[in-house]
Amino acid sequence: MMQPFGLLPLFDRPPEMGELSAPDKARLELIYQKFVREADHLLGYPTNSLFDYSSLLPFLAFGANNVGDPFLASNLGLNTHELERELIEIFCRLTQGPRPDTWGYVTNGGTEGNMYGLFLARERFPEGIVYYSEDSHYSIAKILRVLKVRSLMIRSLPDGRMDLDDLRETVHIERHKPAIMVVNAGTTMKGAIDDLVGIRNVLCEMGITQNHLHIDAALSGMLLPFMDDSPPWNFAHGADTLSISGHKMIGSPIPCGVALARRELVDLVASGVEYIGTRDTTLSGSRNAITPLFLWYAFHTIGEKGFRDWVRKCQETTKKTIEILTTLGRHPWAHEKSITVVFHRPSQGLIRKWQLATEGPISHIICMPHVNLERIQRFANDLRNDPNSVHPNKKGLP
Ligand SMILES: Cc1ncc(COP(=O)(O)O)c(C=O)c1O
Repeated sequence: MMQPFGLLPLFDRPPEMGELSAPDKARLELIYQKFVREADHLLGYPTNSLFDYSSLLPFLAFGANNVGDPFLASNLGLNTHELERELIEIFCRLTQGPRPDTWGYVTNGGTEGNMYGLFLARERFPEGIVYYSEDSHYSIAKILRVLKVRSLMIRSLPDGRMDLDDLRETVHIERHKPAIMVVNAGTTMKGAIDDLVGIRNVLCEMGITQNHLHIDAALSGMLLPFMDDSPPWNFAHGADTLSISGHKMIGSPIPCGVALARRELVDLVASGVEYIGTRDTTLSGSRNAITPLFLWYAFHTIGEKGFRDWVRKCQETTKKTIEILTTLGRHPWAHEKSITVVFHRPSQGLIRKWQLATEGPISHIICMPHVNLERIQRFANDLRNDPNSVHPNKKGLP
């Protein structure tokens, strides 16, 4: 008889598999305890730890695989393509991508989504030049090396947004070449949103009609849809490709994300593969079938209303955090549509203890759903009592 979903998972334990030795068990115990400790001190990285996927455990008994295009049938039926497609429908709505002209798939994270977007852009404009800002995520520079495309880095303003004067000057020199723009919808360190309309205006002034707009919305792609009066950032404002991380705001024990693209661009890279009986349109071959399940489950349990409530709470925590750090003389600030609080870096000891992302003179706290005021207060107490956390100067701070 078939095991119904919801009962204990039916793992097919091979007879060759023995028990773990006592020392190995002890090692796992130590690693588990480290997880518990570190998770309780996570302030600086945007991985939401509020989730419960325990009812999906039965699915872990299968070697499922989402290889191939989620919108096409393939020879491998052990997949969650059906849920992946529904997720892409949800993300198309959140990013104002018209269906069926917008296509997408679940990735291994924001980096893969950036790589996919820039891959399509390069196939579209092999002679194009990629422009990205100083504050772009480090994945961008790496991807450009892999793809071997010409690129130019644009200066950032002190608050992390792309400097449009520098863009204008730089683009002017290469105005006869197509422009591939990496637009940040929420930079990694300062949560800055590049001025998409301003960038388009610069390209227009320069008469650059051949252009591609890739939006890196790793974290903010799950914040902006739930905020009132969000600035232009998505397909409604000219995006060609867009990347969002799944494990950041939604939360997942396995990193993931979504890559979205105007469908006609995907045809540039698609090829039929007899071996899997479908079209190869994704960057990875084998793709895990579990993270689409997690993300789908989150949207069907927390729901879009739940995400809106979370985002509102995160914004309230952001304001409170700024108040608290102001009283401690750390000069904190955040962009209006961001939950990233930037402040004078504390001592190395506190950076490590609270896992604070730090660059030069600044650190940040990202007020994710699991970051409550109690946790902020515990950090503030540490800061108050830390003799090594006096910052000598304000260099690099806006
Ligand atoms: C702006 C931005 N882009 C891309 C990424 C990379 O995302 P992932 O870690 O999911 O690959 C990050 C991660 O922090 C990010 O902040």
